[in-house]
Amino acid sequence: MADKQQEIIAMFDEIAQSYDLANRVMSCGIDIAWRKKACNLAFSNLPKQSLDSLHIADIACGTGDMILHWQKNAQKNAITLQEIRGLDPSAEMLKIAQKKLPSISFTQCEATALPLENESFDIVSIAYGIRNVLERKKALEEFMRVLKEGGILVILEFTKCHNPNFLENLMGFYTKNILPLIGGIISKNYRAYRYLPDSIEEFLTKEKLLLELKEVGFIPLYTKAFSANVCTLFVLKKHSIKQTN
Ligand SMILES: C[S@@+](CC[C@H](N)C(=O)[O-])C[C@H]1O[C@@H](n2cnc3c(N)ncnc32)[C@H](O)[C@@H]1O
Repeated sequence: MADKQQEIIAMFDEIAQSYDLANRVMSCGIDIAWRKKACNLAFSNLPKQSLDSLHIADIACGTGDMILHWQKNAQKNAITLQEIRGLDPSAEMLKIAQKKLPSISFTQCEATALPLENESFDIVSIAYGIRNVLERKKALEEFMRVLKEGGILVILEFTKCHNPNFLENLMGFYTKNILPLIGGIISKNYRAYRYLPDSIEEFLTKEKLLLELKEVGFIPLYTKAFSANVCTLFVLKKHSIKQTN
């Protein structure tokens, strides 16, 4: 498993230079509205007092796209970001992120071993990243550990459809056949962009991922599939344990 995980990370190193361009072309900007929705839902589900000094950790941050969205939407909502950190195991993705966002602190690490203190973040986000983490349960437990009580976990991910309808089949065809072609042409790395549909195929349905999240103790607040069920946004709360003495 460790070898396969390192291969996945190495593949992101290889495509880092062309990642932003390929992503922009392949998504046609559809994900922007969902990233914005994710930010606004997270903000609106936090207690008012935490909005005065928010701490956000963006896991599998890649070239920093989600961090840009957190910053932009916080500004729009007059929310003060006390700390926002980006974490990712790919050194090449992080180099690009650091160039784009010089004032942000980035750390090279996997989602399964976050060098972050217990209960230190109000929001943990992972956009199109959890699919790449092979030891998923370990990562979900890490998210639980670093979140404060009542903190919010945001996941955006490609999810698998079972019993796809006509539109979902059409989107499936686009994801399986057209996207790897576009990504391959832009990055000149067809193997890396074949990984995209293969990893979606190997991944979970939104129902199964939700079950895993609940098993770790997260309380779902919002789950919505979009782009003909190809992607899902999950917004969850850290279980608040009430102490009785
Ligand atoms: C598709 S990119 C998403 C980047 C960014 N979050 C975005 O929204 O554009 C997936 C990222 O997952 C990272 N990744 C791969 N394996 C990982 C792991 N085990 N733990 C954390 N991140 C991982 C890759 O390095 C890559 O940057």
